[in-house]
Amino acid sequence: MVFAGKRILLGVSGGIAAYKAAELVRRLVGLSARVKVVMTRSAQEFVGPLTFQALTGEKVATAMFGPESEPLEHISLGQEVDAIVLAPATANLIGKLAGGLGDDLLTTIMLAATKPVLLCPAMNVEMWANPVVQGNVARLQGRGITVMEPASGSLACGAVGLGRLPEPDLIVEALARLVSPQDLAGYKVLVTAGPTHEDFDPVRFLTNRSSGKQGYALARVAWRRGAAVTLVSGPTALAAPYGVNRVMVRSARDMLAAVRERFVEADALLMAAAVSDYRPTQAEILKIKRCHEEMQFHLTQNADILKQMAPKKTRQIVVGFAAETHDLEAEARRKMQEKQLDLIVANDVNRPDSGFQVDTNEVTIIPREGEPVSLPLLSKEEVAAKILEVVAGLLKARDWGTAGA
Ligand code: CTP
Repeated sequence: MVFAGKRILLGVSGGIAAYKAAELVRRLVGLSARVKVVMTRSAQEFVGPLTFQALTGEKVATAMFGPESEPLEHISLGQEVDAIVLAPATANLIGKLAGGLGDDLLTTIMLAATKPVLLCPAMNVEMWANPVVQGNVARLQGRGITVMEPASGSLACGAVGLGRLPEPDLIVEALARLVSPQDLAGYKVLVTAGPTHEDFDPVRFLTNRSSGKQGYALARVAWRRGAAVTLVSGPTALAAPYGVNRVMVRSARDMLAAVRERFVEADALLMAAAVSDYRPTQAEILKIKRCHEEMQFHLTQNADILKQMAPKKTRQIVVGFAAETHDLEAEARRKMQEKQLDLIVANDVNRPDSGFQVDTNEVTIIPREGEPVSLPLLSKEEVAAKILEVVAGLLKARDWGTAGA
């Protein structure tokens, strides 16, 4: 949804990673973006313009002058789009941008560009480490250009180290922030996700069916919308969302400690984790052997993390989640009251396409004040966007309230 209808300008300069730019275009077009490609002369030594033309369905801009060039393209292209991505950006391109040169179509477009820019350098490890290149990158950052650190690995030149173009999926994520509303810019958002594992012994534990997908979607979307995000995650198989500071924990007690440490400086806490309410009273150090016909375990209640945070609340917007099998709204409202929440997100986990493990969710957002909003079945990312819109509204209201006081 983020890229639907968005216009992206992709500048490709001459490095071996130019072939990866084709994959980037495929991803963006697959996400319904409209992509216009500009290639430098040396980029065309690595990949033909026809490749990009076939992938985008648009003519590729390659020259300032001559029969192929469009009048005023060197001005309009960097102004009409929603965002610009330069991938790969060579040391030469970076140097020219830093120095303000405009000796070909791409650099001239960049001189006149008014839209957010994502620069994705890719080059030999020594070139990247060169203080001149680093200085140029710092100058561009100082002018508000977002720079993606190159990835580490084996490079086409045979060297190993920093210099690889980041994978297209990561570039897409970084670009998503540039085309998203920035209503959470300047805020620190703390999200919890996933289940917890409560150990019986070194190989067995008590857990639940949470996959962590809704919490991870919240973290990803909050980052896109400009927040500094920390994700406290129970054990899941999910990859850390790009740009997000992820802290992995195991048990409810670990999660409580991690949240407690970070709550004071957070502007909002979104407690999407399915925290285990109980843990085995005693976790055995050695593996429990199969020697009894029947076994009984004692369980001890874990602390409620939200309840523990409530007395520490100064300015934080606190959001809880209620996954219920019955009495959905009544249960959610009870929890909102008991846990002193500003907002609770309730979902019915009886449905196979909503709640645990699946990629979709059907939720009702219930604010402390005001009417509940029942959303249709949406992707977890879309649900995250709706929740975060409400959170951004509450944060703004809080700030205006403080400013007025
Ligand atoms: N929660 C928490 N600490 C716990 C248990 C839950 O902070 N030890 C949070 C969850 O992350 C969620 C909210 O409380 O945001 C509601 O969780 P839920 O399991 O539905 O509520 P419980 O209070 O545990 O109630 P019950 O299991 O009896 O329905």
